[in-house]
Amino acid sequence: MLRTYYIETHGCQMNEHDSERVAGLLHQRGLVQVFDPREADLFLLNTCSVREKAVRKVYSRLGELRARKRENPSRRIGVLGCVAQQEGRELLRRAPHVDFVLGPPMYHSLPDLLDDLVSNAPPPAGAVFAAIDASKFLEDTGPVRRCNHFRAGVTVMEGCNRRCSYCIVPFTRGMERNRPAASILEEIRRLADEGYVEVLLLGQTVNAYRDPQRRGYRFAELLADAAQVPGLRRIRFTSPHPRYFTPSLIQVIAGYENICGQVHLPLQSGSSAILRRMHRQYDREFYLGLIDRFRACRREIALSTDVIVGFPGESEQDFEATLEVVRYARFEQMFSFKYSPRPHTQAAAWHDDVPEEEKSRRLAALQQLQREIQLEIHNDKYLGRTFEILVEGPAKDGRRLSGRTESNKVVNFSGDSLPGEFSRVRITGYGANSLLGEPLIDCRLVETAGEEVTWSASSELRA
Ligand code: SAH
Ligand code: SF4
Ligand code: F3S
Repeated sequence: MLRTYYIETHGCQMNEHDSERVAGLLHQRGLVQVFDPREADLFLLNTCSVREKAVRKVYSRLGELRARKRENPSRRIGVLGCVAQQEGRELLRRAPHVDFVLGPPMYHSLPDLLDDLVSNAPPPAGAVFAAIDASKFLEDTGPVRRCNHFRAGVTVMEGCNRRCSYCIVPFTRGMERNRPAASILEEIRRLADEGYVEVLLLGQTVNAYRDPQRRGYRFAELLADAAQVPGLRRIRFTSPHPRYFTPSLIQVIAGYENICGQVHLPLQSGSSAILRRMHRQYDREFYLGLIDRFRACRREIALSTDVIVGFPGESEQDFEATLEVVRYARFEQMFSFKYSPRPHTQAAAWHDDVPEEEKSRRLAALQQLQREIQLEIHNDKYLGRTFEILVEGPAKDGRRLSGRTESNKVVNFSGDSLPGEFSRVRITGYGANSLLGEPLIDCRLVETAGEEVTWSASSELRA
């Protein structure tokens, strides 16, 4: 009998949300989630395979789990996510203590699989479910057990039809499947009614969304409709593709206050020659033009990006071209990676000719430039100004609170607000990756000596 489960998630926000959906299915089956892996009858590892390093991490984690299985042979171990899809049977061969391997397009079969696991036990039959389910669109995303009570991920589409030559995601996630807008909006309305204040629209190329049931209804229309759901204070979306920022989408982003003024524009490279071989479907000029269009918006939009260094054939000039775009764009945040050849991708057949030390040098130079830019932005744009912060919980130092501006900046500040509450915070300091602040007017009623009641700013109370 499987009574309890533990789920450990690596990878992107789609994976985080998938884990919530898997948890929803398991709850429906009466399993109880535990937060100590030693108490789990079923241990699930939700994995990422976007770079080789992430896959190595999975195998070393599985190595550690071998001892757990020996401790309790009736414990079941399942591998989910992109490594499950990528490796399939190979995973069972390399880690025979794993009971099953289930790729993202097959999660709906998890409940049946659990029945099999129970009836076959012991010893369990190793099951591999890594086929791509070719269903054209997502009718229903199933039950979701959310781990956050104020921010909710909502699936808009799954899979990816782009074929970026370095990327394994189209292989692990399958072809694009869009969810009908009516179903997405119904979920968003329900979430707002339940008190969620922030919604994160999710899809591998979220802005390529098209409603499978209504012609001409695309991401711009969906975002505008989502923004009009009463009660939602913040709407974000991830991850978009530069190619699909149409003028009407930019207009929608500029036009609704509750759509967060933060946009992720994955650059990958600033060299048109490299972008062409990456099959990114845009060149340097298109990308620079997009930045200008966001700058020309009626409101301030914080841009973030992803960059890959050391792609096959990347010359020093190509890399310089990337640095130039980064200087021009002044991103507020950047995720940067060394190119890692991935199985099933086109670029895997190309000579990985930039030596490892050179990749490291380029990455360090890029990150140093980005650090300088972020420090400048924090000083020029944030210091001394007041922002509304959505509180997330304790900061890493354990003494302060941590939250985010609508532009997605992490702000640490002293205070006693609860996660999910908003607080107005004045920025008093900064580092390269986060800001430091003081709550401004956290007004509360203070009784004075007589019957009279006055307002007092809590930052003074705390002083
Ligand atoms: N759907 C998202 C990307 C998901 S992968 C998008 O299109 O933006 C997240 C990031 O990982 C990518 O933007 C890219 O910068 C990086 N990445 C993907 N494949 C990689 C590889 N083979 N080597 C290094 N970085 C890679
Ligand atoms: Fe990968 Fe490109 Fe699809 Fe993004 S758009 S998931 S980088 S193939
Ligand atoms: Fe990783 Fe899969 Fe997401 S490869 S980045 S978990 S789609």
